[in-house]
Amino acid sequence: MERLDKILAATGRWSRKEAKNLIKMGRVWVNGVAAVRPEDKVPEDGVVTVDGHVISLERFCYVMLHKPAGVISSTDDPRETTVLTLLPKELGRKGLAPVGRLDKDTEGLLLLTNDGQLAHRLLAPGKHVDKVYYAEVAGQLDDTDCQAFAAGIVLGDGTRCLPGKLEILEPGDACLVTIQEGKYHQVKRMLASRGKPVAYLKRISMGPLTLDRTLPVGSWRMLTPEEREILGVEGD
Ligand code: URA
Repeated sequence: MERLDKILAATGRWSRKEAKNLIKMGRVWVNGVAAVRPEDKVPEDGVVTVDGHVISLERFCYVMLHKPAGVISSTDDPRETTVLTLLPKELGRKGLAPVGRLDKDTEGLLLLTNDGQLAHRLLAPGKHVDKVYYAEVAGQLDDTDCQAFAAGIVLGDGTRCLPGKLEILEPGDACLVTIQEGKYHQVKRMLASRGKPVAYLKRISMGPLTLDRTLPVGSWRMLTPEEREILGVEGD
């Protein structure tokens, strides 16, 4: 059971104040009866309409963003442009947050959601979720780099990483890196520790979710029902 004004605001279409006004104006109905009080509780199977249109009561929202370079993966920053500025205003009101961070200059798959449990399932270290990155480096990668990744790279400051996977792409200065952790600048530091600094980095996948190749850099879309299913979630 959730408050009516909260349910309306959670759609992202109205602020809590606007929702209260809609209710006052008699434009909101619950189960066929005009609603009177914003604080009235709505049962999970309740049918809410605004001006006769049924409002979806699904709580969670899942957005795939093809993050461009130049924006930061946080929700609020006084100086920098954040990934949220790439989404429409209505979505901004839904309390979305990026699932894990990408560096300002990293491109690629960024999932944004207000489903904290999914974020935890994808990010918690014990969950061992694979993240795959495409990297271009200065220098030539070779088998000794692959072996070092498989053994567990030791970063410049002595931090030991869990074993990862390095697949070299032709002609040898590009690769796919698979890791299950999310240490600060991890992929860049792993490759730098091999003397192959990263020139370009892009996240391709996170667990079962893969960046949509048809999604232009800087664009977003809602996850499809199939993508939500493979992540084991419901919602918009
Ligand atoms: N590793 C990095 O070094 N940077 C990122 O943005 C993500 C992973």
